[in-house]
Amino acid sequence: MQRLQTTQAEQMIEEIKRLKEQRNAVILAHNYQVGEIQDLADYTGDSLKLSRQAAETDADLIVFCGVNFMAETASILCPDKTVLIPDPEAGCSLADTINVRQLRTWKRKHPGAVVVSYVNTSAEVKAESDYCCTSANAIKVVNAIPADREILFLPDVFLGTYVEQETGRKLQLWPGECHVHAGIRPDMVNAIRQQHPEAEFLVHPECGCLTPSLYYMSNGDVSKNGAHVLSTEGMLKYAKESCSSCFLVATEVGILHRMMKDNPGKTFLPVNPDAVCEYMKGTTLDKIYRSLIDNVYEVKVPKAVATKARVAIDRMLQIS
Ligand code: 13P
Ligand code: SF4
Repeated sequence: MQRLQTTQAEQMIEEIKRLKEQRNAVILAHNYQVGEIQDLADYTGDSLKLSRQAAETDADLIVFCGVNFMAETASILCPDKTVLIPDPEAGCSLADTINVRQLRTWKRKHPGAVVVSYVNTSAEVKAESDYCCTSANAIKVVNAIPADREILFLPDVFLGTYVEQETGRKLQLWPGECHVHAGIRPDMVNAIRQQHPEAEFLVHPECGCLTPSLYYMSNGDVSKNGAHVLSTEGMLKYAKESCSSCFLVATEVGILHRMMKDNPGKTFLPVNPDAVCEYMKGTTLDKIYRSLIDNVYEVKVPKAVATKARVAIDRMLQIS
């Protein structure tokens, strides 16, 4: 039975590769996708790397294995290409915490403020923003804004708090959070760090554990030694370059696949093994195959929205 399932998966992968060639398609996969999809993809990466890859590709068709806001970003950057998302239900709890109506109301309360939106937002929210940012470049983006300007930072309160600490600037923060990262709690971090004092601690800035961890680190209650705040791609790069043999990983568990694959002699332990994003895991080989056969589900951002959103994205790409 196991062998039969493996053979079916292998056949499906071969079919997908054939269709991909036939259609001059490229498959992009976020670092939280299931392992077999990361292995099949032409490129894997974090939000920033995938946005860049989408902008640079010569392919006619982009199959985006990630969540909706990422496919929208790819469509904004490549208006002449077809962008497909295999799972149309792939949303994001963080992006859903703010819509364009709420943003306009917030802006009215802070006239003249500069709006910095994390990439985990809808295209409409990006279109109402001055700058876009990702976890890899949020600090650089905020540092590029004149010091006398008020900044509305959205939607992730943990990332925003971290950026405040690193830049020394007071930001207006939207109280949004991702349910997966908010579920990685400080008590889990403390417990696993006590069990593995020799290990390095890699933490995504969206984590619920981050703000308390930073606070305790600045107080000296939690050791700063071996703690690194990084985007998903930043974590992968760090793990490869570091001489350490054990890493505690505070983000969605999909990232462990490439970490282990790239570093056979090293150990990677999730701080919370239940940190699973169901939106990311909804993409399957079957759905990718269907996507290529039936040309579904196309992600197209209306031109007026795309043009405005592009300004915010381009400003980010120029800075990082
Ligand atoms: P990265 O930009 O680090 O890939 O993060 C995106 C995301 O959705 C985190 O949950
Ligand atoms: Fe959104 Fe959180 Fe899933 Fe990332 S892990 S896609 S922020 S719900």
